[in-house]
Amino acid sequence: MRELVALAEELARAAGHLVRDGRPDRVDVAATKSSPIDVVTAMDLASEALLRRMLAERRPGDGVLGEEEGHVAGTTGLTWVLDPIDGTVNYLYGIPAYAISVAVVAGEPDPATWTAVAGCVHSVADGRTYTAGRGLGAQLDGRAIRVNSARPLAESLLGTGFGYTVERRRAQARVVAALLPQVRDIRRIGSAALDLCTVASGGLDLHYERGLRPWDHAAGALVAQEAGALVSGLRGRPAGEAMTVAGAPGTVEELIALLEDLEADTDS
Ligand code: IPD
Repeated sequence: MRELVALAEELARAAGHLVRDGRPDRVDVAATKSSPIDVVTAMDLASEALLRRMLAERRPGDGVLGEEEGHVAGTTGLTWVLDPIDGTVNYLYGIPAYAISVAVVAGEPDPATWTAVAGCVHSVADGRTYTAGRGLGAQLDGRAIRVNSARPLAESLLGTGFGYTVERRRAQARVVAALLPQVRDIRRIGSAALDLCTVASGGLDLHYERGLRPWDHAAGALVAQEAGALVSGLRGRPAGEAMTVAGAPGTVEELIALLEDLEADTDS
């Protein structure tokens, strides 16, 4: 387990070097995905290629699921889940909140059933590096981290994010408008992996988002859980694309109940 955590960190740092040192003054969009604003840069592609090359050398039997190149099955029962740049829009604009997210999971590469084993989220611009191993706790730059203690929703700082399609955003705007008067404040950092790790280290009380893909939350959710967070979906379901909610037990339940009332796991 400790070796897997160390390898996740080594991979994330190597991709971080590539992404930081290779960032031109003006970053161009290389391609778009779900909508014209869902962008891929040349560095997303280069970062994932580097991560895959390193894994082919170091863990040739493991599967790989990456944001840009999809899934390649392995033979060991372990799969590496890679977000080569989480926060690509921030990277595009030079906003220093983007990260490399590397996790390794056991079982099918499906967040509904997998067991996350180890993970690392490396915040490229400031070098802050979050790591976790299942049962080993969570660390920021090697020091143990804990979520904030429970507090009422009205005194909680909430992080969230938005999808890239018009329909999804209309529904997310309705939910965020209902939540804003009921919380301390809301932050939209632009990287779900960093949001989850920021909950882990106490910089946010809560995070919720509809639409997260496996690579957005695989490592960050493990870091948050190992720091004491409850990470869940709505209506007793596991965290996943329909909804991911994270925060300290005693706080997160209030948010989950409100999101359920608001039917925040639908696009209507
Ligand atoms: C995005 C970020 C963002 C979240 C989006 C994700 P990407 O990931 O995590 O914070 O709101 O839902 O797609 O596209 O930058 O890897």
